[in-house]
Amino acid sequence: MNTPELGLPMPVPANGLPARVRIHEVGARDGLQNEKATVPTAVKAEFVRRLAGTGLTTIEATSFVHPKWVPQLADAEELYPEISGLPVSLPVLVPNEKGLDRALALGARRVAVFASATESFARANLNRTVDEALAMFEPVVTRAKGQDVHVRGYLSMCFGDPWEGPVQVPQVVRVCRALLDMGCDELSLGDTIGVATPGHVTALLGALSEAGVPVSALGVHFHDTYGQALANTLAALQQGVTTVDASAGGLGGCPYAKSATGNLATEDLVWMLRGLGIDTGVDLGRLVATSVWMAAHLGRPSPSRTVRALSHQES
Ligand code: HMG
Ligand code: MG
Repeated sequence: MNTPELGLPMPVPANGLPARVRIHEVGARDGLQNEKATVPTAVKAEFVRRLAGTGLTTIEATSFVHPKWVPQLADAEELYPEISGLPVSLPVLVPNEKGLDRALALGARRVAVFASATESFARANLNRTVDEALAMFEPVVTRAKGQDVHVRGYLSMCFGDPWEGPVQVPQVVRVCRALLDMGCDELSLGDTIGVATPGHVTALLGALSEAGVPVSALGVHFHDTYGQALANTLAALQQGVTTVDASAGGLGGCPYAKSATGNLATEDLVWMLRGLGIDTGVDLGRLVATSVWMAAHLGRPSPSRTVRALSHQES
């Protein structure tokens, strides 16, 4: 066993887990899209710069969606050039060709389309049926791949849906396969409202593997509504997943899914991975400082337990 550092857990590895995990940081996008107040562009740019300074390598920056649908991210054109020179990957969300055009015009090299496993959320989030949304993504993915742009395919409501209740595994597998067959480089399995539990995660990953979806192409995206996000992450790591989405300070939610709360906090994830001896390349102290700084801008404390414990932030 290694000696613990102050403010860090003692690294005690467990069997059957990966040596390294890539964190896909979504605080600037999934987090800020759900804030009541719109954060000034300069503060967002500084947030992304500080996140890049923590060792995070993938920082989802913003969305090129209709500004009326997500007003908090309507400044994508102003923000992206402020941060595009950073030595990190900066994926952006694009729902359609119009969004792709806007992103490519600014030099984006990583985009993400975002599908739904359920009809209700496809309608609420994209004004489309599930299959109409897939048809909307097809030219986006084809054109992006034609320019060697990396494409992530999000899939929301993989476990439960606020209108439809529990979501059946085959329903999720079908849309995952469609996204992969379309040419997406990776998929992110979204528990948009945070209702998943570890057995359900294991069952979905098993079914995807049986359907020929390689685990190396999968990331997990857990919201922490019921405090299950870390347990679900561990279940996913045990199945071989090595890409985990998280949001600095636990910012987040989804403006089109009422019961969604913040994502798994990146600090809570880093604390657990560090304790398991899994490398992330992230400096936890710097990350906590970044979230405390952001919380001051938002006027409320971070919900992350690790941020609170390490910063003695008032709740
Ligand atoms: P629509 O109203 O059906 O759009 O919305 P449309 O195609 O009919 O076009 C209507 C107008 O919008 C046209 O303008 C278009 O040009 C314009 P007009 O001719 O009327 O002047 N328009 C655009 N403008 C700017 N950028 C664009 C764009 N597209 C069309 N990209 C649309 C369809 C997809 C646009 C809309 O539903 C939308 O923007 N939705 C985005 C919703 C969103 O961003 N949700 C949050 C992200 S998803 C999420 O958080 C979940 C995730 O975290 C995973 C998880 O947790 O599960 C990823
Ligand atoms: Mg999300």
